Amino acid sequence: MTKPFTILGIESSCDDTAAAIVRGNDVLASFVYGQTELHADFGGVVPEIAARAHAEKIDLCIEEALHQSNTTLADLDAIAVTAGPGLIGGVLSGVMCAKGLSAASGKPLIGVNHLAGHALTPRLTDQCVYPYLMLLVSGGHCQFLIVHGPEKFTRLGGTIDDAPGEAFDKTARLLALPQPGGPSIQQAATQGDAKRFKLPRPLLDRPGCDMSFSGLKTALLRARDAIVAEKSGLPERDRSDLAASFQQAVCDVLTEKSRRALMEYLALSPAEPVLAVAGGVAANTQVRAQLQALCADMDVRFLAPPLALCTDNAAMIAYAGSELFGLGRFDDMSLSARPRWPLDQSAPALLGSGKKGAKA
Ligand code: KG4
Ligand code: ZN
Repeated sequence: MTKPFTILGIESSCDDTAAAIVRGNDVLASFVYGQTELHADFGGVVPEIAARAHAEKIDLCIEEALHQSNTTLADLDAIAVTAGPGLIGGVLSGVMCAKGLSAASGKPLIGVNHLAGHALTPRLTDQCVYPYLMLLVSGGHCQFLIVHGPEKFTRLGGTIDDAPGEAFDKTARLLALPQPGGPSIQQAATQGDAKRFKLPRPLLDRPGCDMSFSGLKTALLRARDAIVAEKSGLPERDRSDLAASFQQAVCDVLTEKSRRALMEYLALSPAEPVLAVAGGVAANTQVRAQLQALCADMDVRFLAPPLALCTDNAAMIAYAGSELFGLGRFDDMSLSARPRWPLDQSAPALLGSGKKGAKA
């Protein structure tokens, strides 16, 4: 049996600076330095602040990951780094750092697509077999991908405007609930009546797997304003009902579009059918429950990797790097940062641009 590769992964495409050491399917260390507080006053990620913080913390993250895993640069087979898509300043910080380390240590350099990192996570955690269907749902991404291999993806559809996490965050702001919005909406929704407000299910009337979430947020704003006008405020009960109705609408859209994506995927007759999720919104208990029920119904295995590996991290980058390295794919010092880098070059460009900048 061949020895598994030991790979350093570096991630800095949005608001998390991360480094990890992965050997085969073992995550030896995964260290994430989040920037939430730095951006808290601005209502979103400020690219310049993010880039500076990445540049300041990236070497500390790498040191920490090496220390936690009890490895040195000499133990590595290669250095994998997110080369896009994402905020250009952050991606550049990671790529420059990885190039420096590669030049100094003589270890091969591998540029990894951040979305490929998310998409390959179920291979890291569950060694699932190609092809599988992946739903990426976070604050910055929303798309269905058939994953055929580490470099081969078919995008079946995605959001044409906001990502669902973004919609959760904006909705929480409208309801004066704390950030991040997903968990607080979920919490408020437990007390609410999901049937009270008739919010739209955008794009369900159109064929295909594309989604839209920005109209939903506008509809919620109107419903909220009607209550505020009538009651001169937003009583707790109404807030919970709005949260529950919103969450139900997002779940219904994701579930119906997942059903359509699964039909397309199952037409390929995959050997071991799997729907895997990644991204912060995959933490939502109702989203999980509805997707799990859908999979049970369609005789498909449902995989939701642990949350720390679903959200932005560097273990996924190291793992994706190891699959590429196994295929003999690596880069040289001409590796450049790519703010846009769609996984499926043949799919039409996505229109939206979320808090992380260009989505793909
Ligand atoms: O994957 P992630 O950590 O990365 C970014 O997109 O930055 O996702 C964060 C997003 C946030 O928008 C957050 O509100 C959402 O995931 N989120 C949730 C839940 N937990 C986090 N959305 C719905 N329900 C949750 N329980
Ligand atoms: Zn991500």
